[in-house]
Amino acid sequence: MALERTLFIVKPDAVQRNLIGRILAHVEAQDFRVAEARLARLTREEAQTFYAEHLGKPFFNDLVEYMTSGPVLLVCLEREGAVAELRQVVGATDPAQAAPGTVRKLFGESKQANSVHASDSPASSEREVRLFFGTAALVR
Ligand code: CMP
Repeated sequence: MALERTLFIVKPDAVQRNLIGRILAHVEAQDFRVAEARLARLTREEAQTFYAEHLGKPFFNDLVEYMTSGPVLLVCLEREGAVAELRQVVGATDPAQAAPGTVRKLFGESKQANSVHASDSPASSEREVRLFFGTAALVR
C-alpha cells in the first residue's frame, strides 16, 4: 500500500463536546500520523466550496449552517492506504448505521452532526487537502 494523505475534520458537534483528544487518539491508534492540523471557524464560502458536490441537496443549507456554527479541527492525516483506511475507521454517514467501534458509532449524534468528515476518494482527498492546507501539504 502506498503512503497517502487524506483530509479529516473534527466537526463542530465534537469540538463543542470536548472530543478532539479522544477522536485523535482513536485515529492515531490506527497508525495515522497527523501531518498538518489547524483549528478554524469556517466561513460560509469555505463551507459551501468544501461541500460543493452536495449543492442542491435538501440538507445543503443546514449542512453549511452547522459546519459554520462553531470551530472545527482540520487535520491532514498520513498513513499507508490512508483514504480507504480512514473511511473504515470513521464508519457510515449515519451513526445509527455505522459499524461498532467506528468513530461515528462511538461519538456521532445524527446524520448531520456525525462528529467527523473523511475524504471519500483519492480525488476528493487531493482537492480537500489542497483547499485547507495548500499544495505543499499533498507531498511529504
Ligand atoms: P460528510 O462525510 O462530511 O459529507 C457530507 C455531510 O453531509 C455528511 O458528512 C453529513 O454531515 C451531511 N449529511 C449527509 N447526508 C445527510 C442527510 N441525509 N441529512 C443531513 N445531513 C446529511
